[in-house]
Amino acid sequence: MKKQLFINGEWINSQNYTTLVSPYTGEPITEIPAATAEEVDRAIEAAYQARGIMAKMPAHQRANILENLCRLLEQRSDEAARIIALEAAKPITTAKAEVARTIQTYKFAAEEAKRIHGETLPLDAAPGGEGRVAYTVREPIGVVGAITPFNFPMNLVAHKLGPAIASGNTIVLKPATQTPLSAFFVAELLQEAGLPAGALNVVTGSGGVVGDRIVTDERVSKITFTGSPAVGIGIRNKAGLKRVTLELGSNAAVIVDKGVNIDKIISRCVTGAFAFQGQVCISLQRAYVHEEIYDEFVEKFVAATERLKAGDPLDPATDVSALITPGDVQRSLDWIAEAKQNGAKVATGGTAQGNILLPTVLLDVDPAVKVSCQEVFAPIVLINKVKTVDEAIEQVNDSRYGLQAGIYTENVHTAFDAAERLHVGGVMINDIPTFRVDHMPYGGVKESGFGREGLKYAIEEMTELKLVVFNRN
Ligand code: SIN
Repeated sequence: MKKQLFINGEWINSQNYTTLVSPYTGEPITEIPAATAEEVDRAIEAAYQARGIMAKMPAHQRANILENLCRLLEQRSDEAARIIALEAAKPITTAKAEVARTIQTYKFAAEEAKRIHGETLPLDAAPGGEGRVAYTVREPIGVVGAITPFNFPMNLVAHKLGPAIASGNTIVLKPATQTPLSAFFVAELLQEAGLPAGALNVVTGSGGVVGDRIVTDERVSKITFTGSPAVGIGIRNKAGLKRVTLELGSNAAVIVDKGVNIDKIISRCVTGAFAFQGQVCISLQRAYVHEEIYDEFVEKFVAATERLKAGDPLDPATDVSALITPGDVQRSLDWIAEAKQNGAKVATGGTAQGNILLPTVLLDVDPAVKVSCQEVFAPIVLINKVKTVDEAIEQVNDSRYGLQAGIYTENVHTAFDAAERLHVGGVMINDIPTFRVDHMPYGGVKESGFGREGLKYAIEEMTELKLVVFNRN
């Protein structure tokens, strides 16, 4: 059955359609609207007209809609996970974990809706400020344009819809072309949860038509985007005076200091490198391991990697499945070949089975090759030897990206030193860079973007701070 656009609370046919194909089997799944400029325009107008209703809605009612959504998602969580597994080739156990996180994200959004507040200001701190009472309030920004990626098709949509609804905004959502089904599913549930018509509009189609229209339209006040640096920079250049949050990629790294108990951290590091085939912005891509423990680390990491099961995303035993497109498989193989030509050794993997790239571990990788200095977004990790943590910190910082980094160390001074010197948005001490729970501030520096997600922080970016000064003189 063909899918429809969701505009102004109604499901409508588009003029154009494209076929959505399973990344794992290559078989067609369904037909997806490829919205025209006129259809996007209707979606933006619906969001624009609904902004008054949402801005006036009391906080408890906004929270209630989000709580209803959580209940509906809990009831239909198996179906939600199957949708993610089908459209993204995310292994079903990982897809279930994403649904659980999505519910958490909306729960945090419901809680935050009730505590959006300003502050009072002592204006008499400045001469001339006497006799005045001043306070700030946070007002909704208006229409939020949300552009989301394929890798967490439900939870990264939640990171945009949750705070937008919590703070009384309306939304035009463009989900990733490969993963629109999760977004349509959530739109259906939000309608059932009581969200007014026009508050959420979902338009699928190409970045050139749908994305550009959302980014450049003056009725849209804010863009929140997760995706590649190239697209993010394009959005920034076209967005004019709109507020913009960009959550872009990274080549995230972990440092492993001498004296660390390797048995305790190996399975976590392997998960960080290969969960959802490495298609995670904070996936562990580079490991810098102290020379005293390097050989043991590599041996145990490779053994654990070789125990991972590759296969059908719907099979509960599967750890690793297909990459999102055949083009990404070829790109990964090309990048591995480039690393090998420049001296890297393949400790395991390095080949593909159909659309599945086998989990790949590379050693002695030149920092200038793509698997090191660009975002790999595939199940490829490099493990390089370092003489000191200082050297490792330099390697981690020698990157165009800076989203999150991790360091395992038993030395508290080393930990604090690394926390200070690592140039990233978040430092994980004694954990992988891949750690994230959904209320923490999340975002990067350098080409990893700017602005923060995490409900409280995203709400700050989706509201305007208004000052009120009462002159009692
Ligand atoms: C991302 O890939 O940016 C999101 C990672 C996560 O939410 O765990």
